[in-house]
Amino acid sequence: MCGIVAYIGPKDATTFLLEGLQRLEYRGYDSAGVAVLGKSGALKVCKTKGRVADLAAALPARFKGTTGIGHTRWATHGEPSDANAHPHTDNAERIAVVHNGIIENADELRAKLTAEGAVFRSETDTEVLAHLVAAHLGDGEGQLEDAVRAALKLVVGTYGIAVVDSAQPDRIVVARNGSPIVLGLGEKEMFAASDVAALVRYTRQVVHLEDGELAVVRADGFRTFTEDARTVTRQPSTVDWEVGSYDTGGYEHYLLKEIHEQPAAVERTLSGRLDERFATAHLGGLNLDARELREIRRVKILGCGSAYYAGEMGAQLIEELARIPAHSEPASEFRYRNPVIEADTLYVAVSQSGETYDTLAAVQEIKRKGGRVLGVVNTVGSAIARECDGGIYLHAGPEISVASTKAFTSTVIAFALLALHFGRIHDLSPADGRRIVSALKALPGHIRQILEQDEEIAELAAKYADNAGMMFIGRVRGYPVAREGAQKLKEISYVHAEAYPASELKHGPLALISPELPTVALVPDDELLDKNLTTLGEIKARSGRVLAVAHRAPEAKLADHCILVPKSEPELDPLLLNIPLQLLAYHAAVALGRDVDKPRNLAKSVTVE
Ligand code: F6R
Repeated sequence: MCGIVAYIGPKDATTFLLEGLQRLEYRGYDSAGVAVLGKSGALKVCKTKGRVADLAAALPARFKGTTGIGHTRWATHGEPSDANAHPHTDNAERIAVVHNGIIENADELRAKLTAEGAVFRSETDTEVLAHLVAAHLGDGEGQLEDAVRAALKLVVGTYGIAVVDSAQPDRIVVARNGSPIVLGLGEKEMFAASDVAALVRYTRQVVHLEDGELAVVRADGFRTFTEDARTVTRQPSTVDWEVGSYDTGGYEHYLLKEIHEQPAAVERTLSGRLDERFATAHLGGLNLDARELREIRRVKILGCGSAYYAGEMGAQLIEELARIPAHSEPASEFRYRNPVIEADTLYVAVSQSGETYDTLAAVQEIKRKGGRVLGVVNTVGSAIARECDGGIYLHAGPEISVASTKAFTSTVIAFALLALHFGRIHDLSPADGRRIVSALKALPGHIRQILEQDEEIAELAAKYADNAGMMFIGRVRGYPVAREGAQKLKEISYVHAEAYPASELKHGPLALISPELPTVALVPDDELLDKNLTTLGEIKARSGRVLAVAHRAPEAKLADHCILVPKSEPELDPLLLNIPLQLLAYHAAVALGRDVDKPRNLAKSVTVE
């Protein structure tokens, strides 16, 4: 949510800034801007409402400099507009700041700074930072890093920031508190960004700042220090993923690429974790031994959006395989309701980005009350991963498209591993353990089979896309699938979609059924098949159209169309039933001409409340 880039070195900064911003557009795309300092130190700022492409078109011909910062925005304080776009500057246009996060005491600081003579030109919380840093520099020749540090001491909130000073063009100061900042180390040049995605084409040597840390970055190196000016030493690490992992790789959209990457992502999530001899899973990062796991009486899973739905599938897996009560709840609700934290409950936080503020706040609240939290997280070293007591990394690879697909699937796999591990410590028999182990191993092949139906699903999507809405139904294991399917359709195609338990249809929503509201029905071949077929009959009797996602095609009188999915074990079937729904949503969005990777009003990594 908002992307930051920065460059200092011998080359023209603008080239990197624009390319880096394009790579970070998934974090926000309602306005963009850059500020550069030339050798003379003159500050040039260009910013505009719209996308990075609009910014590139708006740049004056001679907009050049060797030190620069840039920003792509997802609006929080103030509507998307040229004035509210970052960078923000002080009265004298000496300081320029880009910011990701929220300054909670911005109103108070704004009033104080205005009284002291600051003239505000935007409605953003960020602008207070520019005036605050300028106030701390005064007219003297103080160091930019000291002024930024002093300014941040007055700030309550979250931030990742990059600051330049036209009087000190040999440095950029960056700081992190709740919003990521990573430094990229080049040959006599340095980079900084919110995410390595912006840097990997230039360098693979990176340093992740910790919360509460600042860095002064110069062309020939950097120095990291804490808010109380203590120098800290940070060793660079090498980015794990190939540069190509951050590209569309020949696919039309990141989303389609990420859907098709799922077999490989699942293989990575499983890699080295299955134990065929003892029919269990090894999860070294849990930091819980068998005795501690046996003492757990309940599992509470927390996540937002698709992470929450993946948690619902996870809760079912844990209850079925380990026979421990498990429940998933939106982290965004949990954190506000003064939750009861129990010593014998295991809390599990789910997050692809590891940055989602609501999920992070839920983790912090649990820990403050003495609870134990595991993270199921994709982004290594992210805020949520660091805050948790242990966990499972997904290793799904970088997920760039705003809508989550491969991370969703890998999350469910991680829960299957946790449930298996837990189950084998409790009462899951070796035979059942082996059944799950071999079903997990077969999943990548099963997913490949589903992906081969891409063209047929595209044809079906075109048939169903132009309806005003769609109903998604599933029963028990199928219900979280229906919820995730509806979520995916609405977020990228803007078609209204409602998910219901199939069993609840007759208690109200059946009134909506008509030829204009088709139903996507999850119809696994399990112990509830007859019940599901009865529900299809009830829909068809009301002239409803049905698209079944099933292991066996229902009779023609019960479904207008059917997508067939290979059968796994009943506990793992939901994961496979979900894959066609991803393709359905993708192709519906394409058929409707939507901006598939950057749906309106949304951004990946929601780092605000
Ligand atoms: C939906 C989607 C969102 C995220 C949610 C949590 O496709 O991507 O609903 O799942 O914002 O994000 P993470 O998993 O990064 O915490």
